[in-house]
Parts: sequence; C-alpha cells; structure tokens
Amino acid sequence: MPVMTSFERLSEEEKYKQFMERIEAGEKIEADDWMPEEYRMTLVKLIAMHGISEIMGALPEKEWVPKAPSLRRKLGIMAKVQDEMGHGQLLLRVAEDLMAPLGKTREEIMQDLFKGDLKFHNVFHMPAPTWADAGLIGWLVDGAAIITQTNMLDASYGPYARALKRICAEEVFHAQHGESIILALAEGTKVQRDMIQDALNRWWDALLMFFGPDNASTTGTSKQDITIKYRIRTKTNEQLRQDFFTKYVPRILSLGLKLPDETMYFDKKQGKWIYKQPDWNQFKEIIRNNGPKSKERLRLRELSYRNNAWVREALSGQSAAV
Ligand SMILES: [Fe+2]
Ligand SMILES: [Fe+2]
Repeated sequence: MPVMTSFERLSEEEKYKQFMERIEAGEKIEADDWMPEEYRMTLVKLIAMHGISEIMGALPEKEWVPKAPSLRRKLGIMAKVQDEMGHGQLLLRVAEDLMAPLGKTREEIMQDLFKGDLKFHNVFHMPAPTWADAGLIGWLVDGAAIITQTNMLDASYGPYARALKRICAEEVFHAQHGESIILALAEGTKVQRDMIQDALNRWWDALLMFFGPDNASTTGTSKQDITIKYRIRTKTNEQLRQDFFTKYVPRILSLGLKLPDETMYFDKKQGKWIYKQPDWNQFKEIIRNNGPKSKERLRLRELSYRNNAWVREALSGQSAAV
C-alpha cells in the first residue's frame, strides 16, 4: 500500500489554504502539484483557447503568403505564420498536461473546436482583404497580444509562464514586422495611405473587443476575477485596453492616421481614455462562430487536420483521430 505523505493527509480546505499561501508568496505551481479544481479548469480553458487562437490566427495571414508584394515580405510573413503555429503547439502541450488527470486528451481540444465548444479570439474571425490588413494584424493585433500576454508572464502556473516568456519574445518580432509593413505603406502613395486607414477602420472594434468586456458590463463572478484571484494575471480587461490606447493612439496619430472613434479623448482627471464602446452583442456572435470568416476558417482547419492525420499516426505509431 503506498505511504501517504503529510500533505496527502490534509483535508481539502487545508490543502487549498496551503496552495493559496504558495501562490501568494510568488511560488510557481507545476503540472504534478496539487491544485484546486477551479484553478485547473480555469487554466485548461484559458490555455486551450490561447493555443487554438494562435493556430487559427495564422490563417488570415497565411492567405497573404503567396500575395505578399516582394520575396522579402513573403519570407517575413511566412516565418510569422510558422511561429504562430509553433506557439499553438507549445500551448497545447501545456494544456495537455493539465487535462491528463481529467482523462481528457489533446485530440479533444481540436474536436471541441470543430464542434464549436471551444472558442477562439474574436480578431481571427475577421477578414484580411488587403496587404494593409496583413500589416495591421502584425502591428496592432500582435501589439495587443503582447499587452495581454506580458500581463501573464509572472503567472502562478509555471509551465504557462515559461511558455509565455518564449512566445512574447517572438511576438515582439511580429509586431516589428507588422510595423515595418505599415511604415512602408505610410511612406507610399495616397492610395497606400488610404489602404492603412481603411484597414484601421475595419479592425478598430475588433481590437477593442480583443481585451474582452469591462467588468462593469458583465454580471456575477467573471473569469477575469478568478484569474486575478489565482495570480494568473494582474490587470483587468479594461486596464489592458487602456494600456493599449496609451501605447498605440500616439503612434496611430503620428502616422497621420485618424482614430476611427472621433469622440475618443484622454480624460486627465480620471486618468483614462474615454471611448465609444464596441457592440458587445456582436462580439458574442463572433465568438459563437458567427463572424464573417468563422465557418470558412474552421472548415479549413478541419480539412488540414484530417489531411495531416497520417503525420500524427506516423509519429505516435497508432491510428490517429481524424
Ligand atoms: Fe503568437
Ligand atoms: Fe504573433
């Protein structure tokens, strides 16, 4: 009979108390440590959604690999697409370890995506009709991702914090790649400058939605409260959106672009940006896979998952799920 450790002999409440003391002291929780169910489930949902979003996020830019205007740009955007797929794989590995005690596998994450049970980021349901959209995704979507992800660099869950460290380093390159495309267009003709403005107008609401609704517009205990309680992140959705404005509004204006929200201003007394709220009902529809490109991209992902079954099969030595 296996010998019980002194920790195993503790009651559930005492284990929870010790767990909270550990994370409040800044200690990292590892995959095989005891953790409350709520913590595990929150992480599984967050990391699976993050991983899948990285993979789905590669799709709008992938469309631009053959259409990029020069060989240098083609290589740049192809490297970015490859990085994003790598981020997805890294994160799904982290999610897989957390799911193992629940009897869930990595295959099920993909099946949940196809069934519509697992959501991916609102921005990746949107079309990228011009080269300026491809540039803007790198500049501002990756820019927004850097803001949300650096907020979790010190997450209490060690494997996620370590994966994010590597991911954030690469995201910085992505933002620079996007900025370089945008700067080249900004120095070009009027048609090219108009192309950036149109892309910015098209992406504005999606960028605001990227950070999620403010606490005030949700009811009950929100996911963000739970992630803050468990020290997975420190700032709220609204604080992150404000950080995004503070960093990017001056840069947008310095390129001679207009803010798509003309009512927007910085209120010195309140110390925050006042802006027009995007339509949060539309946000809910988009993440329910009713966005402009949701169905098409899910079909594409499912098709490539099926076509690549032989690779998974060859690597595992078993029959892979299709
Ligand atoms: Fe990424
Ligand atoms: Fe990226």
